[in-house]
Amino acid sequence: MTTPVLSAKKNLFRTCDSTSFCKRNRQYADESSCVSPESWNPPYSLDAATVQYDAGALTGSIFKNVFDGTGSSIKVELPFQLVFLESGSARFIVDEKQRAEGALPGFPKHLTQRRYDEASKWAVIGDLTPDTKASYVSTTADLQNGIFKVKYGPNHSFEAVLHASNMKIEFYRQNELHVVLNDRGLFNMDTWSPKADDSKLSKETQEEDDPFGGPVLNKPSSSPWEDSFGGFTDTRPKGPEAIAMDISFPGYPVVFGIPEHADKFALRETRGGEGNHDEPYRLFNVDIFEYEVDSPMAMYGAIPFMQAHKKGSSVGVFWSNGADTWIDIVKTTPAESSFGIKRSIQTHWMSESGILDVYVMLGPDSPSLYRQYGALTGYTALPPIYSLGYHQCRWNYQSEEDVLEVDANFDKYDIPYDVIWLDIEYTDGKKYFTWWKSMFSSPEKMMQALAKRKRKLVAIIDPHIKKENGYKVYENLSKNDLTIKNKDGKEYNGWCWPGESTWIDTFNPKAIEFWKDQFKLGKFCGSEPNLLIWNDMNEPSVFNGPEVSAPRDNIHFGNWEQRDVHNIYGMTYHNATVQALAARQPRQRPFVLTRAYFAGSQRIGAVWTGDNAAKWEYLQIALPMILSHGIAGYGFVGADVGGFFGNPSQELITRWYQAGAFYPFFRGHAHIESKRREPWLIGEPYTGMIVESIRLRYQLLPAIYTAMHRSSFDGIPVVRPMFLIAPDNEDAFEIDDQFFFGETGLLVKPIVTEGAVETQIYLPDDEIYYDYLDGTVYSGVGYKHVDAPLDTIPMFARGGHIFPRRDRRRRSSSLMSHDPFTLVVHLDKQGNAAGVLYLDDGESTAYTRGDYIHRYFVFSGQDGILRSRSMQSSSANSKNFERSIETVRVERILVTGFDTAKLRAQSAVEAFQDKKSWSTEIDIKPAIVDENGEVVRASVVTVRNPGVLISGDWSIQF
Ligand code: NOJ
Repeated sequence: MTTPVLSAKKNLFRTCDSTSFCKRNRQYADESSCVSPESWNPPYSLDAATVQYDAGALTGSIFKNVFDGTGSSIKVELPFQLVFLESGSARFIVDEKQRAEGALPGFPKHLTQRRYDEASKWAVIGDLTPDTKASYVSTTADLQNGIFKVKYGPNHSFEAVLHASNMKIEFYRQNELHVVLNDRGLFNMDTWSPKADDSKLSKETQEEDDPFGGPVLNKPSSSPWEDSFGGFTDTRPKGPEAIAMDISFPGYPVVFGIPEHADKFALRETRGGEGNHDEPYRLFNVDIFEYEVDSPMAMYGAIPFMQAHKKGSSVGVFWSNGADTWIDIVKTTPAESSFGIKRSIQTHWMSESGILDVYVMLGPDSPSLYRQYGALTGYTALPPIYSLGYHQCRWNYQSEEDVLEVDANFDKYDIPYDVIWLDIEYTDGKKYFTWWKSMFSSPEKMMQALAKRKRKLVAIIDPHIKKENGYKVYENLSKNDLTIKNKDGKEYNGWCWPGESTWIDTFNPKAIEFWKDQFKLGKFCGSEPNLLIWNDMNEPSVFNGPEVSAPRDNIHFGNWEQRDVHNIYGMTYHNATVQALAARQPRQRPFVLTRAYFAGSQRIGAVWTGDNAAKWEYLQIALPMILSHGIAGYGFVGADVGGFFGNPSQELITRWYQAGAFYPFFRGHAHIESKRREPWLIGEPYTGMIVESIRLRYQLLPAIYTAMHRSSFDGIPVVRPMFLIAPDNEDAFEIDDQFFFGETGLLVKPIVTEGAVETQIYLPDDEIYYDYLDGTVYSGVGYKHVDAPLDTIPMFARGGHIFPRRDRRRRSSSLMSHDPFTLVVHLDKQGNAAGVLYLDDGESTAYTRGDYIHRYFVFSGQDGILRSRSMQSSSANSKNFERSIETVRVERILVTGFDTAKLRAQSAVEAFQDKKSWSTEIDIKPAIVDENGEVVRASVVTVRNPGVLISGDWSIQF
């Protein structure tokens, strides 16, 4: 059965069929598939004589045959560049010469004539200069056949081969083909032609829905200069300017990524068939309230990054385009595959406007791929540690008393939490930077009270600004001409929470400066240093706009249309807010949550998956969504715990906290019409279980922070799919209901099914695994049955890992900053284990100047010694931080799986640090062995109080 796109949403949101460029390009693909590849004759040709190689880049021109309306055709030049970057990625760009250069007659004067070419400017921060070490290796015979070859990347192990005859670009790694651009010849670019006199157009070309009235090939490229959907008219002053191309991954069985969709982790086929979609995946930032699960529909964010994975290889592509984008995916059967290999994935990317700008990354494995993508778009910003604690939110905490009472209840019930949130009702009439005075008469005192308990407040600030005389933010924004404009160049007005509003145009550097000014401590009345920000509705959401968003013909800074920059806007707004907080408190790491995002948003702050519902299917889909975000570089992500809409049952909310304790961003949130559901209101025994989940989160905080730190320099997400640990196990590729958690080796499978009290955890590799709670030993690839009563989170610890925990119960993360550590060691089959701790002050920017510690722990089975060594580079300047934690010690070490026979009757082990040594007591819980001598439950050796100091080198001899 094909997964349907819900009809109710069809009226509000476009389908491919109601989006002319998508429909046209799909038809184009259908036409191509009807003929043999040799007979497919698109109107494009790549002139081999134009191709040149110079210093890391191949350049040349594609020519498009365009009918000029009089029956004859002209050739439109589309210059291309294939650039080989030092980071190892290749970048393919195609532009439209006449728009990039000349003053075109008839081109609308109020708009920029170039095709939008700034998506990479916003998304990419990596070095884009060509790698001059790449080498051009075409032989004379190649050149005679119009074949251009360049070797590049590490040790020249990558090779790009451009074929002029069919305009394909093949990418090889170590002589094996991995990615093909334009494999099916679906490259297609609408090019500029002045608006024809309507009266001269044939009836056929005036048809609104399908401008080409049928087969696309050999039709005139005039098209409607207007489009209607859902009662809204989109004037298209620049005419049609879509760009499309297909990308194949020969021999790859699965693709992942392109968030945001509420769908399985492994992307499905989109052209119908059992279990597939019949719509392309869409990337178009929209306020898709009450979104449907198992759907390819557009959601709040858009990251056009796709990973293809197969046994032995991971590769990826980044389609750098901020316009409405649709992606079709099909899998070829062996017979259909043009490469003579098992199964291949063919994708077809279609965007409404912009240049073609695509980056190809050749791995070879997932970690290398994430590094390559991060080298382009940046890595997750290292978040302040409190933001990895628990966040309590609802729409709305009604007053200061309410906030402080909730805060006090966390203490009364002994539940740790770090941040309480205020939704839109705190404002005076939804005017941001103001307070609803009767309910929040002294917000600064409220924040000070929270600060005393080392807690923070997050307040929501949305991009719509109420249009009201006397509201200074509006007046100044408007007066200084910093708003988004409508198609006539006037201030754009639409409806959102405050009623009639305008929107700040954060593409404009002056608007960013204006925004920074609003947040200044002295200016944002009632604002204290422990106030952080939540950016919502930044798709932008416009209640009376097309697809609940801004009209595509609106105009932004730089005279670009909204259609060009739509998916980027949310990121620019998030960026402006983060810049504002950074300017306000330069020594503090800012925290700003966003709903809308684009590639690169991971550098800016956290994201959540929007308005889910208190239903089991939303709990189920949250994990695949988090996995998808993680592999697309956006690892600091979470879903509303409990479900936003509706009221969760006690069982559902309990299970949701258990899963949520592992979301990188962990926040309970609820709709204004839902019942109050702070943990203590759920009732026993559920409250107790919820509290245990939150406490577990806090115990694991040092490990979570360490994993986030790793993401911040190599892009490996905290919530990791099976193939990161077992990249060659094909059976595990698509598993998306369990995950590895950071560096801990914990394999977690939260229960997400109503009534379930048992489950099967899949072991993807042949390592030894221990039940995290009782040490039961499991091994051998495959599913293992575990009991999972309501108070249990099924969780195995993979042998070979060491992770840090902090076990003392505290009210918030900052109060843990000087607590001692527990080291948790699970030995692998050879009796070895290793792990990492990253630690800094958790809040300031001092770590950027080297003020942190980075420890490496290794337990060697051979000599029975657990060692702690520094991983810091010698240039690190960690003295200040080290001094501040000089008394912080390890208070317990738990070693699971040690051969306790080696300890004989010992009751102590030897610790060594700073040229001193001492005995430290141990407890031994022996292994339980079955009648065949097999270990059923592993031994646990507890080193009771080793007293070694965390910041220095030490060792313990077992
Ligand atoms: C929509 C957001 O998704 C939701 O989390 C928030 O509570 C409401 N807007 C009100 O601000």
